[in-house]
Amino acid sequence: SNPDFPHYGLSEEHQAIREAVRAICDAKVVPFAADVDEQARYPQEAADALLAADFHAPHVPEQYGGAGADALATVLVIEEVARACASASLIPIVNKLGSVPVQIGGSEEMKAKYLGALARGEGGFSYCLSEPDAGSDAANQKTRAVRDGDSWVLNGVKRWISNAGVSEYYTVLATTDPDKGSKGISAFVVEKSDEGVSFGAPEKKLGIKGSPTLEVYLDNVRIPADRLIGEEGKGFQYAMQTLDHTRITIAAQAVGIAQGALDYALGYAKERQQFGRPIADNQGLQFLLADMGIKVEAARQLTYAAAGRSERGDADLTFFGSAAKCFASDVAMEVTTDAVQVLGGYGYTRDYPVERMMRDAKITQIYEGTNQVQRIVVARQLLAGIQS
Ligand code: CAA
Repeated sequence: SNPDFPHYGLSEEHQAIREAVRAICDAKVVPFAADVDEQARYPQEAADALLAADFHAPHVPEQYGGAGADALATVLVIEEVARACASASLIPIVNKLGSVPVQIGGSEEMKAKYLGALARGEGGFSYCLSEPDAGSDAANQKTRAVRDGDSWVLNGVKRWISNAGVSEYYTVLATTDPDKGSKGISAFVVEKSDEGVSFGAPEKKLGIKGSPTLEVYLDNVRIPADRLIGEEGKGFQYAMQTLDHTRITIAAQAVGIAQGALDYALGYAKERQQFGRPIADNQGLQFLLADMGIKVEAARQLTYAAAGRSERGDADLTFFGSAAKCFASDVAMEVTTDAVQVLGGYGYTRDYPVERMMRDAKITQIYEGTNQVQRIVVARQLLAGIQS
C-alpha cells in the first residue's frame, strides 16, 4: 500500500468545522429539538447559537462579511444541525436558498447590501418560487411584476415559503412578460417591511414543525427598480441554477436526519434486552442496522461529491445536485422508518426521537423539487450525455 496516497475525504479544516458545529448542537440544539417539534415553535435557541458562531448563513463570502464557507463546509454545517434537529437546519438551508439568486445574478451593490445584512444577522433570506399553481411546474408563474417609472409593482401569491415571516428578505420570482413563458420571468428582492407584503397562517405540517411555512401575499408592492436581480427575463434561469447548488443542502439535511436516526437505533439496540440479551445480538437486527449504515454512507459520499461540483461549478453539477438530493432523501425516509422499527413500540411514541426524524425526513423527498422532478432532471442530463 502507498501511505502517500492522498486521503479521499475531508480536510482537517472541514473536520474542525464538523466538530465545532457538533459541539454547538450538543449544547444548544439537541436539548430543545423535541420541544420545538411538540410546540411547533421556532428553534430560537438554535438560531441564536448558530448566529453567534457565524453558522446561520455560512456560505456568504468573506468579502461581504460572511464566514466564507465553501459548499462542502456548508453541507457539513447543515448535516450536523439536521442530525440534531431538522427544523433548525432549515436556518442555514433557507438562508442559502434565498440568497444564492443574488450571488448568481445580483450587482455588486446588491450583493454588498443584502449578503452583508444576511451575514450580520440582520435578517434571514427566503426563496419565493412556488405558487398555488406553480409547484413542479415552476415556470407557470402567475405573480406579476410591472415596471412603473423608477419602480416595479408586484402582485401575487407565493406558497410553501419556508421561514416566511421570520425572514426579512425574500427573493421573489414573478413574470414580467407573460407571453414569453420561462423567458419572461424575472427575480426581485422584496423586504418584509415593504408596504403590501403580508403572510398567511402557518401551515400545519407532518414534520419540520419548527420551520414556519407560510403563504406570502404581494399586494401592489412597489419596490425600487434596483431590486431587480440581474437581468429582466433571466429569473427562471437564476432560479434553476440556484436549485442546482441548493438541492445539495437538502441532501445534506437528509444525511443528517438519517445519521441521527441511525445513531439512536444503534444505542438502543445495544441497551434493549429481550430474551435475556441485547437485541443487537440478533443477526436479523444486525442486517437491518448494516443496511442503514451502508445507505447513510453512500448518501453522504454522493452529497460530498456533489458539493465539490457546486464549489467548482462543474458542468455535471445539475446531475449531481439532483442525484444527491433524490438518493439521500430516499435514504433518509428508509433509514428513519427502519429506526422506528428497531425501537418497536417505543419508536412509535413521542418519548423517543426517531418518530420525529421519520416525520422530518418525509419533506426531503418533496421540497426543492419532488424526487419525481429530480429523476426528470437526472434523466435529461444522462440523455444529453452530461455526467462525470
Ligand atoms: N440551469 C440553467 N438553466 C436551466 C436549468 C438549470 N439547471 N434548468 C432549466 N434551465 C433553463 C433551460 O435551459 C430553459 O432555457 P432554454 O429554453 O433557453 O433552454 C429554461 O430554463 C426552461 O427550462 P425547461 O424547459 O427545462 O423547463 P420546464 O418547464 O420543463 O421545467 C423542471 C423543468 C425541472 C420541471 C423545473 O420546473 C423544476 O425544477 N421544477 C421543480 C421546482 C422546484 O424545485 N421547486 C422548489 C421550490 S423551492 C423549495 O421547495 C424551498 C423550500 O421550501 C426549502
